[in-house]
Amino acid sequence: MKIVQTVMEMQRLSREWNKQGLSIGLVPTMGFFHEGHLSLMRLARSRCDKVITTLFVNPMQFGPNEDLDAYPRDFERDESLAKSENVDVMFCPETKEIYGDDFQTSISVNLLSKGLCGADRPGHFDGVATVVTKLFNITQPHLAIFGQKDYQQLALIRQLVSDLNFDIEIIGHPIVRESDGLAMSSRNKYLDENERQLATCLFEAILEAKKMVYKHGGSIASDEIVKMAQDRIEKNPSCRVEYVSVVHKQTLQPVDVADSEAVLALAMKVNNKVRLIDNSPL
Ligand code: PAJ
Repeated sequence: MKIVQTVMEMQRLSREWNKQGLSIGLVPTMGFFHEGHLSLMRLARSRCDKVITTLFVNPMQFGPNEDLDAYPRDFERDESLAKSENVDVMFCPETKEIYGDDFQTSISVNLLSKGLCGADRPGHFDGVATVVTKLFNITQPHLAIFGQKDYQQLALIRQLVSDLNFDIEIIGHPIVRESDGLAMSSRNKYLDENERQLATCLFEAILEAKKMVYKHGGSIASDEIVKMAQDRIEKNPSCRVEYVSVVHKQTLQPVDVADSEAVLALAMKVNNKVRLIDNSPL
């Protein structure tokens, strides 16, 4: 596996592969790999001649009071895991390689970036949209794989690709979970043992919501789901809901009725410290 750190070298390699008629699969990440990241790489490997994963902790998508400096990093471990998934190139540029002193541009996907995580993290999705656009231009992939764990991010990237006419197939990969249902996340590392146990309440709320929809013949008032999920999360004094929302699976607009067109999206903070998200179609 080749480590590439400059935009010029990455573009040169991608151009060469494109010229040779090889298909390129891209998996953008911020590193600290877990099984979620690795299954995205595996899917890319099975679909493409060449696989690029990018490892870049993108400062533009972190707010001033967020965990940019504390974000978990372990380059050697990531390198060896990506290697074991037969990734061809790990692109890991320094910040100044991506954002030069004179950087001025921002990509905004207006509607999709407003609600859910966008409400709690102003500017976050502009940072995501901007860096992903840059990574597309740098790596020139035929397909790019993103996790459904970040459901809003995936929806926004699909919109961006359509709006800006990128000729890239976007694939959403199902959420990879721990054995007790907790969605894998690099941020789970911040949880102590007790918090780790509490964190399963998000998945429990999802299971209960699905049961409620099923019991009511396939649809139920969204309010009932929201109330149940809020209660389930906040019965733990250490857990505070950031949002619980039943939204349309494509527009991400809140809907009154929870049915097969809807997605339950949840975010909470544990001990005002660790922010966790989860979601599921209903
Ligand atoms: P990061 O949080 O590192 O996630 C990289 C990719 O892995 C994203 O597409 C994310 O949805 C996916 N992923 C994370 N946990 C997952 C899980 N449990 N199951 C399935 N997929 C999972 O998302 C980002 O980085 C950044 O915002 C990025 C797109 C790289 C732009 O900076």
